[in-house]
Parts: sequence; C-alpha cells; structure tokens
Amino acid sequence: MKTPPFKTLDQLRSRRWFSDTGMRGFAHRQRMQQQGVRREDMMERPMVAIINTWSDLSPCHAHLRERAEAVKRGILLAGGFPVELPAMSLGEVMVKPTTMLYRNFLAMEVEELLRSLPCDGVVILAGCDKTTPGTLMGAISMDIPTLFCPAGTMLNDRHVKDGVSRIVGAGTHTRMFWDEYQAGNIDDREWQHLESRMTRAPGTCNTMGTASTMTSMTEALGLTLPGASSIPAMDSAHTRMATDCGERIVGMIWEDLKPSQLLTAGSFHNATAVQMALGGSTNAAVHIIAMARRAGVPLTLDDMDAIGRKVPVLANLFPSGDRLMEDFYYAGGVPALMLQIRPHLALDAMTVNGHSIGDNLDGVEVLDPQVIRPLDNPVTDAGALAVLRGNLAPDGAVIKPS
Ligand code: FES
Repeated sequence: MKTPPFKTLDQLRSRRWFSDTGMRGFAHRQRMQQQGVRREDMMERPMVAIINTWSDLSPCHAHLRERAEAVKRGILLAGGFPVELPAMSLGEVMVKPTTMLYRNFLAMEVEELLRSLPCDGVVILAGCDKTTPGTLMGAISMDIPTLFCPAGTMLNDRHVKDGVSRIVGAGTHTRMFWDEYQAGNIDDREWQHLESRMTRAPGTCNTMGTASTMTSMTEALGLTLPGASSIPAMDSAHTRMATDCGERIVGMIWEDLKPSQLLTAGSFHNATAVQMALGGSTNAAVHIIAMARRAGVPLTLDDMDAIGRKVPVLANLFPSGDRLMEDFYYAGGVPALMLQIRPHLALDAMTVNGHSIGDNLDGVEVLDPQVIRPLDNPVTDAGALAVLRGNLAPDGAVIKPS
C-alpha cells in the first residue's frame, strides 16, 4: 500500500458543499452555523457520517445512540467532524411482514444518504439480521471510506430447573421452551420468567443466527476492526471499540481507503470460509452474494458449496453446537477462528486497519479450544451449508447439514 496521506483538505468530497464561493456555499455554511457548528469545523475537517440504525422498536440496537457518542468522540479526537444520520431500523422480531422486504430499501436509503449529503467517510452502526447487509450494500455502491461498527451480541442467560443450570440464549431456545410450555412441562409462572430473562440485555441474538453470521463475515471481509464483531454489546470493550472506529475512519479518509480496494475475490472467499467454520446461517448465502455483486465480485452458490466441502464447522455454537456468542468472545472470537482456518484463507486480503488479514492474525491465540476447535477436531465434518438442485429448486437451494 502507498504511504498516507493520499488526500488533501481541498480534495475532500465535502469541499463541494463548504468551499464553494457562490451563494450555494454561503447557504451550506450558513445553515450549519444555524445549528451551532463553527465555520472552521466544516472548513478544516473531514465530515464523517455515522449511519445509525437505532430505534425504540429495535431492541438489538437499543444502545446505539450511546455508541454513536463514542464514535463521535473518536472522530473528534482524530480531527474529523461527526454527523449522525438516522437510517431505517429493521428490528427482526418487530417488523412485519418480514424484514427481508426492506433490506434493499435500507441499501437504497444508505447509498442515497451518503450520495446526497457532504460525507467524506462513514461509520455504520448496525447488526440485527438484515441491517448489516442492507447498510453495507448501500455503502459498497457509494464507495467512500466505510467502517462497520457491529452492534454486538446480547448477554447469556442461565435457566435453573430441578437443580440443573444451563445457558440460555435467544431464538432456538425460545422455540424449545415454547414446545415444553405447549406440552405442559413449563407452567405460566416459569414461562413469564423466561420472557423477562432470556433476552436480558441490548444486543443482537447470541446464537449463531443471521446477525452473528453476517457481522462475523463482515469482519472476515475486512470491513470491521479486528475482533470487533464478537464483543458483547454491554461490555465496556464495545464502547472503546466504537471510539476506535471513529478514530480510524478519519485515517481511512486521508488514505482514501474505500470498499473497492478492500473487497476482492479473496475477501469474499474469507467471509465464506468463516461462515462455514462458524456453522453460520443459510441466510448468509442470500446476503453475501448480493454484497459481492455490489462490489463487482463474482460469487455463486457453487463457490459457497465448494468452500463448505473443505472447511468444517469449528465453532461450538448454537444451533450446531451448545455454546453462545459470549463464550465465543471469551474464546478469542473471529480472529481466533480465522487462525484455526488459516490454511483456507486468502491472507493478503486487506482490512480497514490498513493491514492484511494475515498480518492481523499475528499474535492471535485460541483461548478456549472447546469453543473454537482445531481443524483436526471439528464440531462436525458436515458443512454449514450445502447446495441442492432439482425439480423443486432448479436454480439451487441451500441446506444446513450441521
Ligand atoms: Fe435482532 Fe435476532 S432479533 S439479531
């Protein structure tokens, strides 16, 4: 890579709004000062968007207004000027009839927010299932420096019954307890207790469902800071990571480090290999192919099938295993998982911190081999994803053997 900085102040995209000497430039500067922004802050600093998918009806993102403040702190410390832009919040459980109806709507919203406003770079705050691919598809098409700040996962719960304590998470466990409630093995009191406990903290679902699959794949694509996607939402490390995101995006703007430089066939290969080693959600097939197409990278179901036949499931996480995302974080998270599948990775793929995936793996350790297994002791040899074709699905269907 070239040595930064590549860009000068005069070359920033936001200069088109604020350096203009005509009436339009006057109005832009005037209207920013109307809300208390100093003239020098828009004239002498890069303007950094924070796309925030917070809402009161998106519990997985309940903490993102506070995290936006942490991102702003990092941007200001690095000499940028932060501007927060709210975007459609697709809370998976609340939105009817289905969030998938709105994923491309969110992609269009993010792309057009960034295009129509004086943004030199963007930090994205998202994580619930469709919000990760939706926001990133828009940012990839816009192709300005982009850093993804994952919402982080919710904390584990413990359920004690008949003297036996077991860890409990969202999604799969809800269905399991519902079956027991229907069968009369759980009474109304216990059912209401579960309702108030199972999702006991803000953050995305803590099984290896679509949310954790997509944020982990985003880290493997090189679009998050190393280790960011596994940090629980309520851990103080999450707030510090958000500040790091704000600080780093300003560097990326001066370096002109854009998605088009980071997203290659190698990075999409890495994301798919991580999906397989995680036992990730089959929904990822829909999203990662859409993201690859935005980046102009050919990725097909057959490519995913081929990687799935080589990379076994190593992460002992629900629903393929019996642990949750909090345990995955303690075991070393995505960097530790990538260390285990290092022979299957494109190590030269670049990441937002300006270093390659291979460089970022130096010094990484697996802290709990029961949660992140080695290649010679997988959770299962059956892949996380396999592709079927036939008269019911001539263009292909995906199943989850694990
Ligand atoms: Fe938001 Fe599961 S409902 S991640």
